[in-house]
Amino acid sequence: MKNYIKADEWNIIEEGFDPHLNKISESIFSLGNGRMGQRANFEETYTGETLLGNYVAGVYYPDKTRVGWWKNGYPEYFAKVLNAANWVGIEVKLDDEILDLATAEVSDFKRLLNMHAGYLERTFTAKLKSGKTLKVKSTRFCSIADDEVGAIRYSITPLDFDGKLTLTPFIDGDVKNQDSNYDEKFWDKIADEISGTEAYIKLRTKKTAFEVCTGSNIELYKNAEKLDINPEAVRKEKFVGQTFSIEVKANEEITLVKIAANLSSENYPKESLLKETKSVIANASAKGFDTLLTEQTEAWASKWEESDIIIEGDVSAQQAIRFNIFQLFQTYTGKDDRLNIGPKGFTGEKYGGSTYWDTEAYCVPFYLATAPQEVSKNLLIYRHKQLGKAIENAAKLGFKDGAALYPMVTMNGEECHNEWEITFEEIHRNGAIAFAIFNYIRYTGDESYLSDFGLEVLIGIARFWKQRVNWSNDKQQYVMLGVTGPNEYENNINNNWYTNILATWCMKYATEAAGIVKTQQPEKYNSLLKSLNFDQKEFTDWADIIEKMYYPHDEKLGIFLQQDGYLDKEQTLVKDLPASERPINQKWSWDRILRSCFIKQADVLQGLYFFEEDYDLDTLKRNFDFYEPRTVHESSLSPCVHSILAAKLNDEARAYEFYLRTARLDLDDYNNDTEDGLHITSMAGTWMSVVEGFAGMRVRDGKLQFNPFLPGKWKSFSFTIGFRGTTLKINITESGISIKNNAAIDLEIGIRNQLYKLAGNTEIEVNNAALV
Ligand code: BGC
Repeated sequence: MKNYIKADEWNIIEEGFDPHLNKISESIFSLGNGRMGQRANFEETYTGETLLGNYVAGVYYPDKTRVGWWKNGYPEYFAKVLNAANWVGIEVKLDDEILDLATAEVSDFKRLLNMHAGYLERTFTAKLKSGKTLKVKSTRFCSIADDEVGAIRYSITPLDFDGKLTLTPFIDGDVKNQDSNYDEKFWDKIADEISGTEAYIKLRTKKTAFEVCTGSNIELYKNAEKLDINPEAVRKEKFVGQTFSIEVKANEEITLVKIAANLSSENYPKESLLKETKSVIANASAKGFDTLLTEQTEAWASKWEESDIIIEGDVSAQQAIRFNIFQLFQTYTGKDDRLNIGPKGFTGEKYGGSTYWDTEAYCVPFYLATAPQEVSKNLLIYRHKQLGKAIENAAKLGFKDGAALYPMVTMNGEECHNEWEITFEEIHRNGAIAFAIFNYIRYTGDESYLSDFGLEVLIGIARFWKQRVNWSNDKQQYVMLGVTGPNEYENNINNNWYTNILATWCMKYATEAAGIVKTQQPEKYNSLLKSLNFDQKEFTDWADIIEKMYYPHDEKLGIFLQQDGYLDKEQTLVKDLPASERPINQKWSWDRILRSCFIKQADVLQGLYFFEEDYDLDTLKRNFDFYEPRTVHESSLSPCVHSILAAKLNDEARAYEFYLRTARLDLDDYNNDTEDGLHITSMAGTWMSVVEGFAGMRVRDGKLQFNPFLPGKWKSFSFTIGFRGTTLKINITESGISIKNNAAIDLEIGIRNQLYKLAGNTEIEVNNAALV
């Protein structure tokens, strides 16, 4: 746990340079725009500890799988988001000395991420070995207004000397992934071009043959006056740049502006990539840095209009929630249905940048409420497009007749995960994908999604579950054997309650969805079922399983059992674990973890979160009180679900306690792993803790409901959501709740147990005293 980020409502601030924190800060201060992103690496040379990271969405490398013991059904490769060409580099040389913060004496160092305007700023003073001192200020961003463009303004002021300043801005494609399985480099150079102030390099990924063209154009200013430069080309292995020198005097400010672009063959024909990159560079350069920055500021301002959460009375909570929202929008903007949200976004290599069930279970609710409907729809369509691969994936494991098993980890629909207990067994992910369809329709009311895309996916998933269960003669019920639940600290278990309940829910929902499509679009329904070779008997089979499924539970304790035999384990509580033994995934052998009763993340409770309407509060409480004390929360996805359930149980203190564990997870490096990258998908969970937890927001029967409380330390909190054509601003204070409806659309809204009319363009205010 660290505590070095200064509290501020709109900015993330680091003051003072501590090289030991550099990799953590590189993650925290990351930039992105949904199409590309990068860690906050320094522009100038840095020979200290760093994790270089520039990423281009959708461009990956199939790194050959490395496992100790091969099992049939394993994927051939693990897709990796590639460390791509580094376009931020600027070598700075004063006479013969290279500016390098690892060797210079650094003072007045400040890094600032302005979340309102979407840029990163860094200022410092450096004293070089020779004693020369200079001041630097850099500002950079990845444009959200034009997501192929990035820009840097890098100013250098010599403070106590006159001399020769040599600048070498460059694009370096000779980069590696830190986590490459065979220590290979993943890029080949196809072409490069350096002409005057412009430089381009076109690289192709090995095996996948994606092409990315990265280009830049530079301008130079002395005290705001533009200078003509005639740089010399620099060409090295997969490296293009320009170098030039200028005589500078003390206190003169020299500013290099570097406008960059990244275009990929995912969006352009390969043969025209270079030409298109040149044209993007020409347009962006014509606008200039200031205009690009203004566009960036405006684009972010409108994102904040739709999504901000304002917390009064707690600056550190305010900073944290905005940081989470900011990073989510830097990662995914929803413009492209081929893209998704890697658990680390564009902030690191871990998890390969691939798609997990995190998207459906955690991120979809966030984008549903904070972005236009197309954004969450595109997340669903991403999976619809991969249905064919999910069917192939299931077939590879022996399933048939159109059964679909979505991968645990994927880039393009193919499974990438290669631990049998996850790949083959952690099949609950299939259910989360179906649940997201349900959630999307519940929120938006857009039932046409079912006939256009959803039903096909639901049928594939239901078919899988039908084949995955088996009839137990002994129990005279259906069972599901050999699975791993969300609690990955146990594998190959039988009858994971969560997976069983999710499986039957999927079959019920697929049946219901079929009914809706049949009524609304009979022709489409008939042709879809025909194309899927659907036999009406499948409905009967599903109904039989729904009726006769076995769900483990314990009568005496009145709880659902995480799996068969869970109570045979030695029952100890997390509070009795010595601090020195935590986190257990770092301190204990895997064998010991597997045999213990400790739970990695919400499992039974994940089910109670999804299907809360089916259970009364007493049931929820008994299960919460039993499972939470056994949960180590060693997945960042865990605390948020607990926070929401605690809020539902009116346990405000615990709801807030769990929220704190998720909200500043990365800012305070809570789990000592921020240097690997940020926990992007769990950031959506933090948002859920506030909106679904503290505000108790739900959509039921097409209506919004709130069941709010104000966390002790806060004076008030308010948030904006989009809902069925309108934008609502909800404000919760000590005295009650007010909701402002910003469009001419009439709504009915539930607050606690009462329904209120909220006419278009009006506001209601309900005092706590009036609430029951
Ligand atoms: C969690 C999974 C999650 C993955 C990626 C793991 O630690 O157990 O539930 O999908 O991280 O975030």
